[in-house]
Amino acid sequence: MSSPEAPLLEQLSANSVPYRDPLAVLDWRALSADRYWLPPEAISLHGLDEFEALSDAARMRLSQHEFLAFAHSAIALERAFLQSTARRLRRAEPDAEYAFLLHEMREEAGHSLMFLRLAAASGLAAPDWRDALPRLARPYSRFVPGDVAYWFMMVVAQDVPDKLHRFVRRHGGPQTSPFIRQLISLHMLDASRHLAYARRRLEMAMEGRGRAVARIMPALFNVLFNRFVHGFFWPQAELYERAGLGDGRAWRRAAARNPHRREFVLRLLAPTMRLLSHQGISVRLR
Ligand SMILES: [Fe+2]
Repeated sequence: MSSPEAPLLEQLSANSVPYRDPLAVLDWRALSADRYWLPPEAISLHGLDEFEALSDAARMRLSQHEFLAFAHSAIALERAFLQSTARRLRRAEPDAEYAFLLHEMREEAGHSLMFLRLAAASGLAAPDWRDALPRLARPYSRFVPGDVAYWFMMVVAQDVPDKLHRFVRRHGGPQTSPFIRQLISLHMLDASRHLAYARRRLEMAMEGRGRAVARIMPALFNVLFNRFVHGFFWPQAELYERAGLGDGRAWRRAAARNPHRREFVLRLLAPTMRLLSHQGISVRLR
């Protein structure tokens, strides 16, 4: 398969220079647990009476655990990305695309190092990040014919966190940790270039898709999209317990039934769904 246009790749690569190492750029001494790591509206229980009844300290702690879970899924996604991109280097067009992929790998490795350090420095108990991805969002390219599903997931797995990051940047007032906002800004800057490449790739894959792929696509896209979005926005029961809230299964059920959460996610992801529909892909949140 041919590569995206050289001028696009060269422009994206040029924007990756100079490289900003998040480990060096962030002021790690500013990381503290006395602020929210997510604005309250972005917490899974927001809008429920039970949530409003919690102390400010408990809500803050929950925001930190939920943010750490996002960081853990980022590490898991970035590992899948690094593995598949390393394989793709072999087929990359030798100049512009090869260079761009190296920039991408350097930046994604930097993000994962940043999130690993965040997890260690946070002092929060958390499970192994390798369990952070829902089963179907793990590397699936081997099971699905063609590149369409791969680039679809690359767009979704980057665009969905991007929308959350934009929300935190816009709505994270003074009560949201400035350190976390800075960390998010660094990630967003790199992700916008990675997304531009993935979107172009998805466009090309859609143009070149075979008839067999076209037939199974709508159902497959919906399954992949929903698995990812539900795993990303609705925490596991254990997270509520680690955050000190007690019976995690009851909280998970409450979050699953929380109409405010669903509304929040739908509003947040409307641009993602629009972007996909421009590429001829329609997905719905179940
Ligand atoms: Fe990243």
